Amino acid sequence: MWEVDESTDLWGDAPSRHAAGGETERFVTGELTSDDLDVERGLRPQRLEDYCGQEHIKQSLRILIEAAQSRGESLDHVIFSGPPGLGKTTLAAVVANEMGAQIKTTSGPAIARTGDLAAILTNLQPGDVLFIDEIHRLNRQVEEILYPAMEDFSLDIVIGKGPAARSIRLDIPRFTLVGATTRSGMLTGPLRDRFGISYRLDYYGIEDLADIVCRSSSILGVSIDRESAKEIASRSRGTPRLANRLLKRVRDYAQVRGEGSIELGIAQEAMRFFEIDELGLDWMDIRILETLCKTFRGRAVGLSTLASATGEDANTLEDVYEPYLLQCGLIVRTPQGRMATPAAFEHLGMEPAAR
Ligand SMILES: Nc1ncnc2c1ncn2[C@@H]1O[C@H](COP(=O)(O)OP(=O)(O)OP(=O)(O)O)[C@@H](O)[C@H]1O
Ligand SMILES: [Mg+2]
Repeated sequence: MWEVDESTDLWGDAPSRHAAGGETERFVTGELTSDDLDVERGLRPQRLEDYCGQEHIKQSLRILIEAAQSRGESLDHVIFSGPPGLGKTTLAAVVANEMGAQIKTTSGPAIARTGDLAAILTNLQPGDVLFIDEIHRLNRQVEEILYPAMEDFSLDIVIGKGPAARSIRLDIPRFTLVGATTRSGMLTGPLRDRFGISYRLDYYGIEDLADIVCRSSSILGVSIDRESAKEIASRSRGTPRLANRLLKRVRDYAQVRGEGSIELGIAQEAMRFFEIDELGLDWMDIRILETLCKTFRGRAVGLSTLASATGEDANTLEDVYEPYLLQCGLIVRTPQGRMATPAAFEHLGMEPAAR
């Protein structure tokens, strides 16, 4: 039978991978600080109407939720994918709230053994939402337990070993699995196919981010005008988490250097002070660009060389910094490595390298 190790934190705070290790204050980081976690809990929208942007996802979810409710059924299994900080965890909780369901939260790496998942599934109540964050990190054996659970709401278990082993099938309550992943390409085909509903979250536009900044300011009790909210939004790399993080910095600055309320002048001054430029690049982005443009004079540079030249971990470069620099057209990836584009030279106020 399954052994469930009591010490395993099955319901652990899902973003455990984010536990920050004594890092200095950074604006752009893949890590969630404990401060972020506290603030995020307070700022997280609870209902679809409070969730800003991603209109097509909201409209579609509204219809699917209403249809499921009018049939008295639970919602089909849903997967949310997209870069960090865009609101996947938030949407999972919103779905549960809108369905009037309880949410149970866990994450791929927290479920180490098949018995762990079996224990979670047998403890669900009918209609519950089971949220598995970082679902691409489930191990293969655990994932196989999920297939019949998602499809037939049953659990196949093997009792005994060798020739005496026999398999029995247990019924489990009908539930909705909500998965979130930052790496949809790493999901296995069979798992992906078992989700009836799949959404990909996109980076947010300035107006939506400005709505988020205004909403967060009113929750935090800081007054801000629309222009300043847009200024913060435009430097937040399309990401609500960064917009909220930046808002808090600007709020602190306005409290100490200004009158407390956030106006355009003080917002811009704060951003200069925290070294966040008009594209939302912080000093590490700039260091990366300078390394490519100055040190390597526009030549292609391999990831590990770039990592040692900038003193940043290669995975962090790849997951956190590179996607936005690529999106802004400041760097390109070639088979030989990363290269600065003419736009990067221009951004640094340099003449493009002669070819
Ligand atoms: N559409 C939105 N409207 C308002 N606030 C949002 C929205 N999306 C995200 N946020 C805010 O951004 C924060 C980060 O969102 P969330 O934790 O849901 O991101 P995530 O996609 O799960 O990130 P990760 O991949 O790192 O787990 C939330 O606490 C919430 O306050
Ligand atoms: Mg999340």
